[in-house]
Amino acid sequence: MAKEKILVIGASGQIGVELTLALRKIYGEAQVVASDLREENNLLKGTGPYVSLDVMNKEMLHVQVIRQNVTQIYLLAAILSATGEKNPGLAWHLNTQSLLNVLDIAREEQLQKVYWPSSIAVFGPTSPKNNCPQQTIIEPTTVYGISKYAGEFWCKYYHQRFGVDVRSIRYPGLISYKSSPGGGTTDYAVEIFQEAIEEKSYTSFLGADTYLPMMYMPDAIRATIELMESDAKKISIRTSYNVAAISFSPGDIAAEIKKHIPDFTIAYKPDYRQQIAESWPQSIDDSVARKDWGWKHEYDLPRITADMLNNLQS
Ligand code: NAD
Ligand code: SER
Repeated sequence: MAKEKILVIGASGQIGVELTLALRKIYGEAQVVASDLREENNLLKGTGPYVSLDVMNKEMLHVQVIRQNVTQIYLLAAILSATGEKNPGLAWHLNTQSLLNVLDIAREEQLQKVYWPSSIAVFGPTSPKNNCPQQTIIEPTTVYGISKYAGEFWCKYYHQRFGVDVRSIRYPGLISYKSSPGGGTTDYAVEIFQEAIEEKSYTSFLGADTYLPMMYMPDAIRATIELMESDAKKISIRTSYNVAAISFSPGDIAAEIKKHIPDFTIAYKPDYRQQIAESWPQSIDDSVARKDWGWKHEYDLPRITADMLNNLQS
């Protein structure tokens, strides 16, 4: 069997950096080509090939796929929920056209697999708030959520109509320390750790009791790779899998941080992101992913807090 050659698009972002490094460990440095519109992230420098690439330029993307003998694409370029509300047209255009460009090229070049993440943002105020199931009422109210929901059905369509093996996860809010988050509603759960160390205080843009589904980055990276490495026969969902770990609120993280930094204080000043957060479920039922490909999270809030503070301090 020919060796895998993986193209990661959006590799300098919050997920891209860690996913690229993890893929390079598995497949070999030279087999994973990182690409982004912005410059190569410092953590990627010297770890493998990097190309500057605009995913919206389909011709250039196609050239790179052929030139690099790409067999798999991980598409991570997107505009997230909070930034999306500031420029809805641009968010819709980037989030949907980038996916169509990749799916078309995957079909034409008969790529082995494509990965494209969706989000809990597909759910809206009419979806169940607790243990939101895989299949339910889905009426998103943000342009980001609308673009992700449309994208899920493009994935299913390309799989059914053209046999493209595209796989997807609806990530919850992701917490990490290696690279900064890129304009989401859940970004507070990263900022709070940085500010706790630097300022011993944080002003949250979400209210104290705003519960959201969350996950630590090592769990998210493992989920992604486990899904991509699963036997295709096990994949029953060709839109996007619900995948969950934990749910907490800004008040919960603050209490946990205080166990490590006793003089840490938090204030609350909800802004436009509060409304976005309130439109999403507080927790997710991911039993289909657990049954289909054995998904299981490892990190809870105390473990995430200790690990985040430890790594940011050092
Ligand atoms: P991010 O904003 O940190 O990274 C996205 C990267 O894409 C950036 O480095 C950006 O420069 C790049 N990019 C933007 N436009 C591009 C273009 N035209 N061509 C090439 N690259 C371009 O985002 P992230 O948090 O790493 O998210 C990655 C994916 O995961 C997105 O699809 C996002 O919707 C999804 N997701 C993320 C989270 C989260 O909490 N981080 C949760 C749910 C879903
Ligand atoms: N973390 C993402 C956001 O807040 C969820 O998709 O936009």
